[in-house]
Amino acid sequence: MRISVIGCGYLGAVHAAAMAELGHDVIGVDVDPEKLAALTRGEAPFFEPGLPELLVSAGSTGRLRFTDDISEVRGAQVHFIAVGTPQVKGSNAADLRFVDAAVGQLLPHLSPGDVVVGKSTVPVGTAGAIAARLAESGTGAVLAWNPEFLREGFAVKDSLTPDRIVFGLPSEPEGAVVAGDALREVYARALADDTPLVVTDYATAELVKVSANAFLATKISFINAMAEIAEVTGADVTQLADAIGFDARIGRRFLGAGVGFGGGCLPKDIRGFMARADELGRGESVAFLKEVDAINLRRRQRVVDHVLELLDHAPFGKTVAVLGLAFKPHSDDVRDSPALDVAVRLKGLGADVRATDPQAIGNARRLHPQLDYRESFEGTVSGADVVVLVTEWDEYRYLDPDAVGTLVASRNVVDGRNSYDPARWRAAGWSYRGLGKP
Ligand code: UDX
Repeated sequence: MRISVIGCGYLGAVHAAAMAELGHDVIGVDVDPEKLAALTRGEAPFFEPGLPELLVSAGSTGRLRFTDDISEVRGAQVHFIAVGTPQVKGSNAADLRFVDAAVGQLLPHLSPGDVVVGKSTVPVGTAGAIAARLAESGTGAVLAWNPEFLREGFAVKDSLTPDRIVFGLPSEPEGAVVAGDALREVYARALADDTPLVVTDYATAELVKVSANAFLATKISFINAMAEIAEVTGADVTQLADAIGFDARIGRRFLGAGVGFGGGCLPKDIRGFMARADELGRGESVAFLKEVDAINLRRRQRVVDHVLELLDHAPFGKTVAVLGLAFKPHSDDVRDSPALDVAVRLKGLGADVRATDPQAIGNARRLHPQLDYRESFEGTVSGADVVVLVTEWDEYRYLDPDAVGTLVASRNVVDGRNSYDPARWRAAGWSYRGLGKP
């Protein structure tokens, strides 16, 4: 199939490459010349395991091209909209300006029978408005909504072999057949492998995405709330998570207590959901998400407080080694990163913060040039008064407390991801602080 992908950021670049890998003829469109040049060279503009290989292998077939000329989408039958929907500054709402612009640019190039497919995460009701715009334009194109569930760090796998596919189709039967048939062809391989398919209306498809992220955020904040209770009762939140996680109805995944969630999706999506629910007069239905957000943000301060306690509340001039800057391992993304936030807060309190990360230093430096970034682990921890783990990269998870102990000035560690065995670190002479741990 001939496919266009409008927006070659995180979502679009991976989607375009995956579609080409699946045998489709793909044109990716973006406005950023540097990004386009990198993608054309087979280089990923951001760190994503497996993406460079995918770009090279798909590019070598001649089926994957990138351009800044929107008119090159002509001839494609399916047009994916994969632009960003960031949080509006000073508000919880999602900013739809890039989605609106993409639709506007696409309109003059659409032909009857074309299918425009929304992938961006949008407030419920957006698809209906775009469908009305398409209908008014008289192009004869139809709209489908096909949310994306890819996780950073696993985006290639999630795109090639998704765990479910959702088609939000038009209510009008003829349009539903055109859009449904086109999407079945797009996803033929995954569907042949029995990937579950849920066919819905627009509103449900839009809500599936935000409610999935709201549920995941709630699950993490639930266990972090239990960590807060554990902290005042002497209980151990990791054992608690193990024990409740054995209940198949609950499940152990996403019960990792620690410094909390960040990234380009979970925080902004729960806030956007609250803003939209308010507009719909149903703010109370998702009012709990305000608590989910608040619990999450409190955990960052808890990590900072542990550091302060270990420094006898005199952080000025003390060296704090921060391990990790990305919002999670296998990513260079520092958007709403708890790790970077902790580093910045400690610096603001007068500590001499040194921060490191295997991938995210460049992005972190652009946002916060005031921090002292160190490429090497040794250069980060040597002479430190406290070591703080905030992104659980393997290179930081499996440290030998005896060996690290020979580098630091004082054996103080704050385990912001509950990744270490407290007994082992204490046996090596460390003052250990976890989150929700005795
Ligand atoms: C998320 C959704 O998982 C994905 O389906 C959606 O398409 C986009 O948003 P992503 O942002 O890549 O994906 O990250 P995810 O792996 O979900 O982790 C989100 C955050 O939660 C990270 O900061 C992670 O460190 C944190 N987390 C995760 C925890 O604090 N505890 C856990 O147990 C799991």
